[in-house]
Amino acid sequence: MPVNFTPDQKRALAARVNYYRELGIYDFYRRESDVARTPSPAEGVAHTSSLVQSEHDIGVVINAPAPNMFAPELPENAATDPAEALRIIRQDLGDCTRCKLHKQGRKQIVYGVGNPRAELMFIGEGPGADEDQQGEPFVGRAGQLLNKMIEAMGLQRSEVYIANVVKCRPPGNRTPERDECETCMPFLLRQVQTINPKVIVALGAVAAKNLLQMNASMGELRSRSYDFRGSKFFVTYHPAFLLRDPRQKSEAWKDLQQVMKYLGLKVPPKAQS
Ligand code: URA
Repeated sequence: MPVNFTPDQKRALAARVNYYRELGIYDFYRRESDVARTPSPAEGVAHTSSLVQSEHDIGVVINAPAPNMFAPELPENAATDPAEALRIIRQDLGDCTRCKLHKQGRKQIVYGVGNPRAELMFIGEGPGADEDQQGEPFVGRAGQLLNKMIEAMGLQRSEVYIANVVKCRPPGNRTPERDECETCMPFLLRQVQTINPKVIVALGAVAAKNLLQMNASMGELRSRSYDFRGSKFFVTYHPAFLLRDPRQKSEAWKDLQQVMKYLGLKVPPKAQS
């Protein structure tokens, strides 16, 4: 019987199914006892994918950290500290040719930069020309503004970690395509899992939508925080957007103040006005 899932249930199921895909698990089987009985609508069995069990049966909690018993065997699991783990993930990425961005003019892979034990992680969309040239995220004009945002929070760039949804520059700075984001995402998620930040800030809609797997407006995305794999997740405007529309800077500052409140940071006097 068709069942109408709530948006939260849909997101939770999609996140869980994706998580299993990342582990290389594609098939889901019902227990015989489940197949035998007719589910009630409240149990929410998907009619489109009869392989997926009800939300109740698979124990979905929205964006809950993955249970350890399902933790994949990843090479970085052998690392003794997060810096080493990040190096191992970088090695695993290699001279990546997993998506078409590798043959569309990228100079180099832009992996991520910052403190491997950062409490705060920023995630942008993808490298631009300057980042592609220098091999570091957010070093161009948008990066200069991001630095100011970080400093306004009373932090140094070196204290946080900065990465992007895709690690190769999309040609002409176009928006990264879905397959490119999906191919790169497991590496970003491994970086997130290694750093285990208290807070993740998604910079712009591309980062927010790809990570949360939600299709919503920036207004909706920014209106709340989320629990994301053990981190608190906030959304704010992309610095490149703020360069184009500086009137939105006060809105972005409100988002960052929420982050600061969560992290227990005091607004530095310089940024108070
Ligand atoms: N824009 C991004 O989204 N990321 C960068 O690294 C630079 C600009």
